Amino acid sequence: MENKVERIKNAIRDVPDFPKEGILFKDITPVLQNAELFALSVELFADVLKNTNIDVVAAVESRGFIFGAALALKLNKGFVPIRKPGKLPYKTFKETYELEYGTDALEIHQDAVKTGQKVVLIDDLLATGGTAVAAAQLIERCGGQIASICFLIELTFLEGIKKLEGYPVQTLIKF
Ligand code: PRP
Ligand code: MG
Repeated sequence: MENKVERIKNAIRDVPDFPKEGILFKDITPVLQNAELFALSVELFADVLKNTNIDVVAAVESRGFIFGAALALKLNKGFVPIRKPGKLPYKTFKETYELEYGTDALEIHQDAVKTGQKVVLIDDLLATGGTAVAAAQLIERCGGQIASICFLIELTFLEGIKKLEGYPVQTLIKF
């Protein structure tokens, strides 16, 4: 397991000054590009969830979809997309969250999760935690229970984990 994590970690590319000056962007595209590493990353998600009771997998647009959809197939579960505003066609719930400058929002279909369903929430990256909190709240507004929140990468220095206190969180790779 340790070795698998290291192999993925080593493939993540640092891109300085993206999307703006002073930000060191963690680029996962080299992981996706490599069939073995992509499969390995989905395997690691499945590994950490092997003792978790799950009804459905949810993920956040857009990078979360890549891992979330693949994991849902691997676990033989349905998939729930959580999207940026105005993208989902049916009745939605909406949660707004803080960005460094201003706010953004996410939406979920009101019938995407049934009352009492156990939901695992997947995203590629935990930074400030705003995205994950909003996504978790959306799942709860549908009546779902958060069985786990899983990230491929956690940027520990941003302390986003503090915002997720009370939720079971699992991160595969820490920087
Ligand atoms: C990135 C990343 C996470 C989120 C983490 O998504 O994929 O979803 O930021 O940040 P936070 O913990 O500070 O909320 P982004 O909104 O950049 O969009 P993308 O997934 O469509 O690239
Ligand atoms: Mg994202």
